[in-house]
Amino acid sequence: MVNKKINISNKKICKCNNNHINCLTPKEWMKHQVALWEFSYEKRDIRDRDIHPAVFPIALPTKCIQLFTHKGELVLDPFCGVGTTLLAAKDLERNAVGFDLNEKYIKFTKNRLSQQKLQKNNTQQIAICDDSNNISKHLEKESVSLCVTSPPYANMLNRPRLNKSLRGKSRINKHYKTIQQYSDDPRDLGTMEPKKFAKEMSKIYKEILPLLKPKAHCVINITDLWQDNQRTPLHMYIIDELEKVGYKLRNIIIWDRRNLVNGAGIFGWPSNFITLGTTFEYILDFWKPADKK
Ligand SMILES: C[S@@+](CC[C@H](N)C(=O)[O-])C[C@H]1O[C@@H](n2cnc3c(N)ncnc32)[C@H](O)[C@@H]1O
Repeated sequence: MVNKKINISNKKICKCNNNHINCLTPKEWMKHQVALWEFSYEKRDIRDRDIHPAVFPIALPTKCIQLFTHKGELVLDPFCGVGTTLLAAKDLERNAVGFDLNEKYIKFTKNRLSQQKLQKNNTQQIAICDDSNNISKHLEKESVSLCVTSPPYANMLNRPRLNKSLRGKSRINKHYKTIQQYSDDPRDLGTMEPKKFAKEMSKIYKEILPLLKPKAHCVINITDLWQDNQRTPLHMYIIDELEKVGYKLRNIIIWDRRNLVNGAGIFGWPSNFITLGTTFEYILDFWKPADKK
């Protein structure tokens, strides 16, 4: 049981106008006005599935942090995995707290952050091993300026990988028919079927809402599922559940992943037509309405 809140600053340390949503110049802002986003990997990105099976590129949280926060403000990642959001926050001089159930990922995050030496950075990035249902025990009310994450995509990883988007030799790679689940902990959202997963997200995000500053943004990267020859629109379930607990949807952004998908095969051919699920994901942008407590 935690009684003491984390001692971490959430105060803006830049000289930008207090009414501005971020530190971007109008010119930089213009570049972000397209709702189709594309990211590339850099050297520091973790792409080894044996370390973690589902890591997003550093460029994704970087863009969200630049758009929705000022230097010094506090960023939260409720499912931080190996700490990609925390690393982006460190680069950009934002304070940040990340939670993950899995001790192994938290250890990796701490090590990853410690290797990242930056000059003149007075911000903190803290990784905590805990169930994200407990976040409100750790953070002060109205302290968070941005919540950004990629949660488990329900039980997508909880079945043998069939590499259906690959053809020929590359399909039977070392991951073929392996299960790459984060854990079998029943609290792990990656063990839950889609409807149960969406309900659990709503429970967790209801507790997070009071921790957000008014008009703070809350960004969720998610994809829909193809299971048993059927599409499950996880992104719609999430929108529905988050709006029920008080968030308002602001934007739906498409993360165009075509530049990252190598050697994609023809899904379903020749007996079926299926739009290739691996080529894009959703980035759902919500906020906390100004009048919500
Ligand atoms: C898609 S991964 C996040 C990866 C992260 N964006 C990164 O780049 O490393 C989702 C994470 O949620 C964690 N998780 C699942 N259920 C959780 C829970 N109830 N509380 C905290 N973390 C949880 C898993 O351990 C997994 O690392």
